[in-house]
Amino acid sequence: MNIKFVNLRRQYLSLKDEIDGALRRVIENSAFIGGEEVSRFEENFAAACGTRFCVGVGNGTDALFIALKAMGVGQGDEVATVANSYFATSEAIVMAGARPVFVDCDPVTFTMDVQKLAACLKERIEVKKKRVKAILPVHLYGRMAAMDPILDLARHYGLRVIEDCAQAHLAEYRGKKAGSLGDAGCFSFYPSKNLGAFGDAGAITTNDPVLAADMRMFANHGQASRYDHRMAGINSRLDGLQAAVLNVKLPFLLQWSKSRRTQAMLYHRLLGDIDGLLLPDIPSDGSHVMHLYVVRVQHREQVMARLAEEGIPTVVHYPTALPNLPAHADLGYTPDDFPVASLLAREVLSLPMYPELKELEIVAVCDALRFIYNEG
Ligand SMILES: Cc1ncc(COP(=O)(O)O)c(C=O)c1O
Repeated sequence: MNIKFVNLRRQYLSLKDEIDGALRRVIENSAFIGGEEVSRFEENFAAACGTRFCVGVGNGTDALFIALKAMGVGQGDEVATVANSYFATSEAIVMAGARPVFVDCDPVTFTMDVQKLAACLKERIEVKKKRVKAILPVHLYGRMAAMDPILDLARHYGLRVIEDCAQAHLAEYRGKKAGSLGDAGCFSFYPSKNLGAFGDAGAITTNDPVLAADMRMFANHGQASRYDHRMAGINSRLDGLQAAVLNVKLPFLLQWSKSRRTQAMLYHRLLGDIDGLLLPDIPSDGSHVMHLYVVRVQHREQVMARLAEEGIPTVVHYPTALPNLPAHADLGYTPDDFPVASLLAREVLSLPMYPELKELEIVAVCDALRFIYNEG
């Protein structure tokens, strides 16, 4: 059947004429950097997320880095973030010169455990007198972190909040969209994300006009206007070709999230009675945008290998909790410091999930899993 983990070609073919036409217009106008497509996307994406501003940048990692820098995070500062995410989350904190302080995740939602966050902030700020500047929650796999308690803690301690929305375009928390609750929301449009470009691309949303202007300036060589460089920034801009692709795709995003949720429900229905297979918790209110469908299995490597033999591709997001990666060895954490994230790192397995995935393909994935579990 040749099932792919993500099949980007299907989405391209479904919008081929529109995308080809949009790309051709950018090329014919030579609008490669900045231009009408970029400003139109920034305007439309801000509106979709329910924010006043959107700054297009080069990728999601830069989005995090730029937001941190524009908020003045640097050497000697700490940023509290979650132990279970893609490396870019903590990498951006290190790139800004600060120290990531990791918080374990919740075993049901897989997002930041807010009680552990409260304990962590109390210890770092009140006991150890550390300069914690910000909280960086991650809306992992398409589900938003528990933002109200996070925002309460941020207010209590006077901290900034940067949402990592790379996996959660248009996800919701109590009626509000990802990227509209914190001081800034950082998005990736990496091709396989829920809203994917044709290369690297990213954006930052915010309601704060000063922060928006600072982030835009930092991302464009620190220039306020041409050749008026106010600071050493970086070059990280959303380009015209990527913006053109994103403009074509954005109107379909809600519908694609809906398809993903329908597929998740089908997985649930077909896998619900397999003993030993733990299915993800998915709220029924449409707030989860199902970037990934992540089950938990014991003996994961064997299950993965058997699925591969049956022609079913799977991926592990992520095999090592962030604090336990070699890149963070200097921080001195052990796996025992993050029991939930360490357990998830051993057991999580992502099944194929993308809006164009067919019902028949989901049935084939589930049949293969059932067959493998029946084998024992
Ligand atoms: C949670 C998370 N944060 C940040 C990023 C970084 O985005 P990018 O690959 O566009 O730099 C990604 C995706 O790769 C991600 O999944």
